[in-house]
Amino acid sequence: MRKALLIVCFVLLPLMTVGCVSMALPRVPAQLSAEAATPSLDTVGLAEWEAGRAGLQQTFLDEIYGTMPAPVPTRIVSHELIDAAAFAGVARIEQYTLDMAGYETHLALVLPANATGPVPMIVMQNFCGNSIALDGRPDIAGPVPGSHAPDCTGMMGEGLVPVIFGEYINEPPVMQILSHGFGLAMIYAGDIVPDSAEAAPARLAELVPGQDSGAIAAWAWVYSRVVDVLDSDERFDAERTAIWGHSRNAKSAVLAAAFDPRIDLVIAHQAGTAGTALAHSGVGEPIDVITEDYPHWFAPAFASYGDRREALPVDMHELIALIAPRPVIIGGAWRDQWSDPQSSFRAAEGATPIYRLYGSQGLTQSGLTDYDPTADLAVAMRPGLHGVHAEDWDNFLAFLDAHFATN
Ligand code: GCU
Repeated sequence: MRKALLIVCFVLLPLMTVGCVSMALPRVPAQLSAEAATPSLDTVGLAEWEAGRAGLQQTFLDEIYGTMPAPVPTRIVSHELIDAAAFAGVARIEQYTLDMAGYETHLALVLPANATGPVPMIVMQNFCGNSIALDGRPDIAGPVPGSHAPDCTGMMGEGLVPVIFGEYINEPPVMQILSHGFGLAMIYAGDIVPDSAEAAPARLAELVPGQDSGAIAAWAWVYSRVVDVLDSDERFDAERTAIWGHSRNAKSAVLAAAFDPRIDLVIAHQAGTAGTALAHSGVGEPIDVITEDYPHWFAPAFASYGDRREALPVDMHELIALIAPRPVIIGGAWRDQWSDPQSSFRAAEGATPIYRLYGSQGLTQSGLTDYDPTADLAVAMRPGLHGVHAEDWDNFLAFLDAHFATN
């Protein structure tokens, strides 16, 4: 009886609520109505683009994200084998304790147990720490004390959150990913800069003394610090390093790749404002809302564009263009207007002229519905709300397979 009640309360009722919310929220129109990205990159030549890259990167930091910490290489404090035969024998789990510019964090690697050649890796920032991402394994460390990580355990974290935000919101589909030949490198970036408006400023002031900075820039830097570790180890394929992020972590992922050429592919899922959605669009999460709710994510300058978004001198198509010609997939959902899939599509379209300068076709689809996993810029939509679901991973893996063929 008690079990039946729990199922009703924590599974059936939330599922019904999610269904109702989903139907009540406006559907993102399939017909494109978002305006084209500005400024247009249509007439920029290759030499001009390359000469302007550093200045453009600087403008993104000055106006939106703040300064990134200096690229001090990551120091490996310790490295241990956790389990040589995890996930029914198909996975090998290893753990590193890392020192990033004096701060401790942990990296969990999940590798195909039978890997023969260098493994293409997916670096993944998570919301709750590596242990939660690996089914709550007690032998996986972190988040570190003081990281302000949310409590993702119990009925709320393990019961309700996956019902609302999808079965893969905190734990990726490890066996499916490994079966495609990819390994995972998981990290909780809140260890380095806590995702807390109260706690982040002090840490940012230590990491980037005397300059404006924001947590998204620091988390982007964390992606690069993981690449330091992977690229120094021949077991990993330095030519096939992907980074994955959902929502706030997707914002950091796009920024990281725009600055770090060692990142070979980006999966930016529902990145929204200050990720892949055009700030000029006026649809989705407004600048004044995001900077008020999450002031620690950005340079103070970004908030000044709250009531004058048209004055922002750069937009997200240029951030994506800084990644060209490396592949980027943008994930979205039909009831997630908040992350503005229409203007993310326009951003990919707006970055395409720069992809073409490098001999890539960029975006090949003509609208939100015709996802093309073989293109270097792609937008993949699925039904539902904000979160990480099976369809999302099917889309991400089709994209990874197309660009990082493993056999
Ligand atoms: C909030 C925020 C978004 C962000 C998201 C997330 O919804 O408004 O900008 O992407 O949190 O990270 O889950």
